[in-house]
Amino acid sequence: MKRSSAPLIMAITVAALGLYWLYYSFATPYTPQTTFFPTTDFARSTHEVYIFVNLLLLAIFVLVEGALIWVLFRFRKEDARPGDPLPEQVHGNTKIEVGLTVATTLLVIVLFVPSCQQIQFMQTKPDDALVIEVTGKQWWWEFYLPEHDLVTANEVHVPTGRPVRFDLTSTDVIHAFWIPRLGGKRDNVPGRTQFIWMTPEEPGIYDGQCAEYCGSSHALMSMRVVVDTPEDYAAWVAQQKAPSNPAAMSNFASFASAGCLTCHTTLVNDGTVRNMLGPNLTKVATRTQIAAGILPNDSDGMTTWIQNPQYHKPSAKMDIPAAQCTGEGEPDPCCRMIGIGNCLSEETVAQLVSYLQDLK
Ligand code: CUA
Repeated sequence: MKRSSAPLIMAITVAALGLYWLYYSFATPYTPQTTFFPTTDFARSTHEVYIFVNLLLLAIFVLVEGALIWVLFRFRKEDARPGDPLPEQVHGNTKIEVGLTVATTLLVIVLFVPSCQQIQFMQTKPDDALVIEVTGKQWWWEFYLPEHDLVTANEVHVPTGRPVRFDLTSTDVIHAFWIPRLGGKRDNVPGRTQFIWMTPEEPGIYDGQCAEYCGSSHALMSMRVVVDTPEDYAAWVAQQKAPSNPAAMSNFASFASAGCLTCHTTLVNDGTVRNMLGPNLTKVATRTQIAAGILPNDSDGMTTWIQNPQYHKPSAKMDIPAAQCTGEGEPDPCCRMIGIGNCLSEETVAQLVSYLQDLK
């Protein structure tokens, strides 16, 4: 490669990377987990700080790289003629060094002020927030809404126009709650409660993902927030709280005898049944997905999940690895799913799926 073409290649590479970044940031707005299309006050104000910082840094980058490229071309060795005098040889320049130090300090202050304002904004608890207590679990999310005394899992609805405060904790390891278009992200730390809040503005479906490595199925720990109009939200709460008698439904006997009630409940979704080993299934058929966002909530998704949870979510507490099941005889209820052909016939699985699909 000719030495003189190096700056050009460098400039083209930088421009290509910039275009690639722009395309994936702006031309694909419906990537579910983008931060570029915020839909809450919190997400937007964070985004504005982000854009401000990046535009400022982009301007500095262009200035510095532009000066560098100009110097590389202007003073290249190929242009020097024999006999040209040597430029003046200098060491250090107090004015330039002081100037750079002052400019850098001012720049840090310019970055510091809006960042502090944003932190102040998001650390002030809003009045009249809808509180949702979020417990991270390996590898799913429990949601509890004290205002309605309502427990659900992995998918929760919120209304527009009212601040929602997620109170975050964990019962095992550190997880992180992150729904990019609503704003984020914050850790769920065992033994401690932190909060994050925002005011949803646009009805829609917003997906998020655990953002702190938490074990083998960390990548399979999604959550979904459905933002409703206030009317739709009221209807959702009414549906979740509607009395039903799941124990009287056909196929409940199969569900009970398969041992599912050891870790799940289908009977109540109030504060008396928080922190069970598995998600609350009282109204499971009203959710759009199962297993923390990794399978669709339909007969096929439910069937393949029950038949082989370990295939879909390695090390999930559902289906304890065979090595932990002791002896022959009558297995522990949670181990019953091992060797599914022996313990849960296809007919039984079909009955369980049918039962669960009716829970709405
Ligand atoms: Cu939970 Cu990563």
